[in-house]
Amino acid sequence: THVVTEACIKCRYTDCVDVCPVDCFHIGPNFLVIDPDECIDCAVCVAECPAEAIYAEEDLPQDQMDFIRINAELAAEWEVISKSMGALPDADEWKDKPNKRDLLER
Ligand code: F3S
Repeated sequence: THVVTEACIKCRYTDCVDVCPVDCFHIGPNFLVIDPDECIDCAVCVAECPAEAIYAEEDLPQDQMDFIRINAELAAEWEVISKSMGALPDADEWKDKPNKRDLLER
């Protein structure tokens, strides 16, 4: 599967959503996640993300491993999003900021 990581938090550009052939993205207040049971590993979304937030599970940086669990958990709770809805207002400001995981709203 592919995994959305910390870099998406407070940016949520949603560019990734438009290219997904299986609608595996689920959206929350300031983040989105991939449903690991729906993702077909096409990898098309990886290059679309301005924040470089999406990784194949096997390429995940060590400090982002907990996002495997976070994606699975939140995909079960959040609604599917199948069309891009634009970035959050301050996305460009937050794009390169580290340590955003405490800001994740559920
Ligand atoms: Fe997030 Fe990147 Fe998609 S910031 S919403 S994973 S385009």
